[in-house]
Amino acid sequence: MATSSTAYARNSKPLTERKQPKIVKNISKIEPKKLGLGLVAGCCLALLTYISLAKLFSIYSPVFDVSRLSTSNLSPSISNSSSSPNFPQQNAISNETVKLKETEEDPVLDIPELKETNKVQETAPEDENNGKEAPKGKTESKIACDENGKDEGFPYARPIVCEMTGDLRISPKEKSVFLVSSSQQSTVFDQNGEKKVRPYARKDDFLLPSVVEVTVKSVKPESDVPKCTKKYNVPAVIFSVAGYTGNFFHDMSDVLIPLFLTTSHFKGEVQYFITNYKPWWVHRYQPLLSKLSNYDVINFDEDEEVHCFPHGFLGLIRDRDLIIYPNPTRNPRNYSMVNFTKFLRDSLSLKRDQPIILGESPKKKPKMLIISRSGTRKLLNQKEVVAMAEELGFEVIIKEASPDQLQSFAESVNNCDVLLAVHGAGITNEIFLPTEAVMVQIVPWGKMDWMATNFYGQPARDMKLRYVEYYIDKDESTLIEKYPSDHLVFTDPMAIHAQGWGQLADIIMKQDVKVNLTRFRPSLLQALDLLQE
Ligand SMILES: *[C@@H]1O[C@H](CO)[C@@H](O)[C@H](O)[C@H]1NC(C)=O
Ligand SMILES: *[C@@H]1O[C@H](CO)[C@@H](O)[C@H](O)[C@H]1NC(C)=O
Ligand SMILES: *[C@@H]1O[C@H](CO)[C@@H](O)[C@H](O)[C@H]1NC(C)=O
Ligand SMILES: *[C@@H]1O[C@H](CO)[C@@H](O)[C@H](O)[C@H]1NC(C)=O
Ligand SMILES: *[C@@H]1O[C@H](CO)[C@@H](O)[C@H](O)[C@H]1NC(C)=O
Repeated sequence: MATSSTAYARNSKPLTERKQPKIVKNISKIEPKKLGLGLVAGCCLALLTYISLAKLFSIYSPVFDVSRLSTSNLSPSISNSSSSPNFPQQNAISNETVKLKETEEDPVLDIPELKETNKVQETAPEDENNGKEAPKGKTESKIACDENGKDEGFPYARPIVCEMTGDLRISPKEKSVFLVSSSQQSTVFDQNGEKKVRPYARKDDFLLPSVVEVTVKSVKPESDVPKCTKKYNVPAVIFSVAGYTGNFFHDMSDVLIPLFLTTSHFKGEVQYFITNYKPWWVHRYQPLLSKLSNYDVINFDEDEEVHCFPHGFLGLIRDRDLIIYPNPTRNPRNYSMVNFTKFLRDSLSLKRDQPIILGESPKKKPKMLIISRSGTRKLLNQKEVVAMAEELGFEVIIKEASPDQLQSFAESVNNCDVLLAVHGAGITNEIFLPTEAVMVQIVPWGKMDWMATNFYGQPARDMKLRYVEYYIDKDESTLIEKYPSDHLVFTDPMAIHAQGWGQLADIIMKQDVKVNLTRFRPSLLQALDLLQE
């Protein structure tokens, strides 16, 4: 069967060459544990993923228990004009000028305009009027937007992101960023001197209308510019958590990885503004947000101040989903997924950077976490798989993915050496594995190799995990019970993909899996082998 024609060679060794696992085959049965609560999102996660891919959508609103989460939107730990007329942080303007110089050497959006801007910034006199009035002298501000970014080899366009320097005045109440400049307007602006941006880091025509639109307005210093009520010397970043957030895959791919890519080099000296603000979301990812920013997030939907900055981003830089590659404009600092997973472990104080090395401590068993699914793509013979894994020497733990229990679930994953799951958004949890741990993905029937590879397989490799994939045969799928053997799903599954998301979701994505243990066993042995290398 040509079911496993991936673009990536699988490096499974022939069984004859396999080293004998140095495992004590002493079976201690572990009662499968289940997390019963808060798993509403789990079943639908992977659907969304492919929804975006196929550009055929249905809005999915995860049901969360928001009430028990803190709804407080803490004020930023930045002084305000009423408390101090002299803006204490102005003392640091020289420090900030240094920062901007560094940025200049390595602009994120490599657009000549911006380089000019930074030069101007470098020599700009300090603002003496505490930002309460528009400066009387010449003010130079610049904007550069990266728009219509295509991704060759991937079916999405990249989202718009604008970078601004000079005199930025962010007025959440007016859903606007005023860019004060005496010189002529940038071509970025329309005839009204405006640029409208929906700052969600996934360009998704279906989703974008629900994203708050933020308008950058080009204004002259002598015009009626809003007065600063707070002034900062760090960059601002405005982004949305609309749309698919709450889905763990999308939390990572649409917000947190882009946020890491856009802002981690600021080393915490950056102020975030979040629009389409969701208190539970900010609460859930607080450990990551506070690792990236030293200041409390500002709720762009409700804030009443006018915040002034010398530098800022509207939108986030995105590469692929769980993939980031070096790029002279998007990723000039060459961040990798290894850097991102390290960041996650630091943020969540996850202890393990490395998996067990088999043979080093003979009494220790390698731990396998099976992420079970309760909706579609269930592993029907999970018990038998567990028994086989235990027989091979694994200590097996079973959990359902629970993105609402970020800390404890991340710890469970990090504590394991092998993660095993049927294709679905739960596999996103591979980001918490120690580097060089093993990810085993079971890929259901129906030519799902593109999804399997691009959503989870290649990211696993990029995170320097050891990756094993198992493509089921049609006999291992419940599709065989639902459709006659001459049905398209067996004769030409790609034809179903071509019919669009509806068909794909109804037919291919709705199968359960019962792996043939004889056929699957080598994959578990391969996982053991990889832990010995
Ligand atoms: C802003 O100033 C007012 C008045 O002094 C003060 O009560 C408030 O705490 C200040 N806010 C911040 C964020 O510092
Ligand atoms: C600015 O730099 C000086 C010297 O390095 C340091 O003493 C001062 O604390 C810095 N200010 C801020 C606000 O970081
Ligand atoms: C990033 O990688 C490129 C080559 O891929 C290299 O030329 C460049 O110097 C690297 N940049 C940094 C900051 O390491
Ligand atoms: C990213 O990871 C590489 C390789 O692991 C490392 O050399 C580099 O210092 C990391 N970059 C940052 C900014 O941490
Ligand atoms: C399981 O796989 C083995 C090896 O491919 C095959 O010989 C056997 O017939 C399969 N068992 C079932 C029940 O399909």
